[in-house]
Formats: sequence, C-alpha cells, structure tokens
Amino acid sequence: MKIALLGGTGKLGQGLALRWCKTHDILVGSRSTEKAKSVANNYLQSAKEFYRKDLRGSIKGSENLSAATQADVIVLSVPFEGLSDFLASIKPRVSEEQLILCPIVPMMKTNAGFIHTPFKLIEPSAGRFQIRSVAEAVADQLPPRGRVVAALHTLSSKKLAQIGRPLDCDSFVCGDDKSMTEQGSNLIVEIPGVRAINIGPLSNAIQVEAATVLLRNITQFAGIREPLIKIL
Ligand SMILES: NC(=O)c1ccc[n+]([C@@H]2O[C@H](COP(=O)([O-])OP(=O)(O)OC[C@H]3O[C@@H](n4cnc5c(N)ncnc54)[C@H](OP(=O)(O)O)[C@@H]3O)[C@@H](O)[C@H]2O)c1
Repeated sequence: MKIALLGGTGKLGQGLALRWCKTHDILVGSRSTEKAKSVANNYLQSAKEFYRKDLRGSIKGSENLSAATQADVIVLSVPFEGLSDFLASIKPRVSEEQLILCPIVPMMKTNAGFIHTPFKLIEPSAGRFQIRSVAEAVADQLPPRGRVVAALHTLSSKKLAQIGRPLDCDSFVCGDDKSMTEQGSNLIVEIPGVRAINIGPLSNAIQVEAATVLLRNITQFAGIREPLIKIL
C-alpha cells in the first residue's frame, strides 16, 4: 500500500514511516521537496539498518501535494495551526477513494497546563453549543465524510521511532464508513504491540483528541514520560 505522510518530516511522521515501511511504500511529504528527500533518505537508512532483509517496503520523499496524489492512504501529520489553508491546498489532489487518517490534536499550553482547543458550534435556537473535533472539520473540508478516519492520537512519536520496541498500548479509531475504519485499524495493528479499538462514528473523535491533551498533562504534572493508554 502507498502511504503518504503529509508533514512526515516531523515527529509523528518519523515514527510512522519507520514502522510502516517494513511492508508499505512510504511517501514522506513536506512543503519542501529537498527537505522531504533528505529526511526520507535518513529514515530509509535507519530502516535498512534495523530490518535488513526483512524490509519489503520503501521510503521516498516528495512535496506534500505530489505525495497526496500518489497515495492510497493519506496521514495528516501536520500541526493544527494553519490546517484549513493546508487542506484547501491538497483538496484538488485527493480522490474520493483515498483513506485519510487524522491524528491532529488541537491544544495549547497555558499556565495551567495543556488545554483542548476544539471548534465550537453555536446552536442559538437551543441556547447551547457543541464542540467539534478536528477530524470532523477535516471531513467537512475534504468530503466524502466516510473516508476520514480519526486515528493515532494517543501514540507516542518517541516510542514509535524506537523501531525495535513494541508499544504495548491501545490506539483508538473512529469513522463513519466501516471499510475505511477497518483499513485504518489494520494499519494500526501492524505496529507491534498496538491494539486498535473502534470507538464508533467520527463524531466521537472529540473524545480521543481530548485524551491526548490528558496525556500531555500527565507528563507535565505527574512526570510520567511518554505515557500511553491501555484498556484493561
Ligand atoms: N508527536 C506526537 O507524539 C503526536 C502523537 C499523536 C498525534 N500527533 C499530531 O500529529 C500531528 C503532527 O505532529 P508532529 O509532532 O509530527 O508535528 P511537528 O513535528 O510539529 O510538525 C510536522 C510537520 O508539519 C509540517 N508543518 C509545520 N507547519 C506547517 C504548516 N503551517 N503547514 C503545513 N505543514 C506544516 C512540517 O514539515 P515541513 O516543514 O517539512 O513541511 C513539520 O515537520 C499534530 O497535529 C499532532 O497534534 C502528534
């Protein structure tokens, strides 16, 4: 399978590339072609050293838009900031059959620790408001909604990048299309030691985005580094 890691030059992209390249063809995307190629080459050297003859996939670098066009699966491994413009830029290059995995967590650091900063929807008639996940906002901008699957949020990029180390944790997925959600889960369980747990429709993505903020505060206040979630 061809997997485009848009913004794959960053922390999460590195870990996912190193894990998934064992069997998949990875396209590391960047705003800069030169940076993409250089970073992809570094990842590939690490992968070759670790997997040796067991390496069946590949890692190449390319500018984000080109990577998005070529892939079966797109991972939005970019920051929340500037996301709307970024999605508008890739929209002409994505097709309806592609699975889009969204790990993005909207949060900011304050004096009281990390806080979740999701979108707010106003329902004036009901006198109430509703909060909305990034994954749903992505689906609004890149329809059809069913191909967007919220995934990978609570994984630690540092632990993913330690190739030989199984993670021993769970990772949550949610989406509105059964087949797309299953495809996302299948990729997650290929990472050694990770179980995929389906938490229902895309509207539940807000819960797993918030769980990641909780993990950041666990690190900040309890001093537990790189915490992961495991459901017992
Ligand atoms: N790190 C984690 O452990 C982790 C875990 C779960 C989920 N996530 C989520 O995954 C996403 C990526 O996390 P990360 O830690 O890998 O982020 P990151 O390292 O800060 O950034 C990833 C890449 O995004 C690109 N980028 C930066 N600003 C951009 C912009 N305005 N428009 C387009 N591309 C931009 C950069 O690539 P170029 O300069 O090469 O274009 C950068 O290398 C985030 O939304 C985060 O919330 C992270």
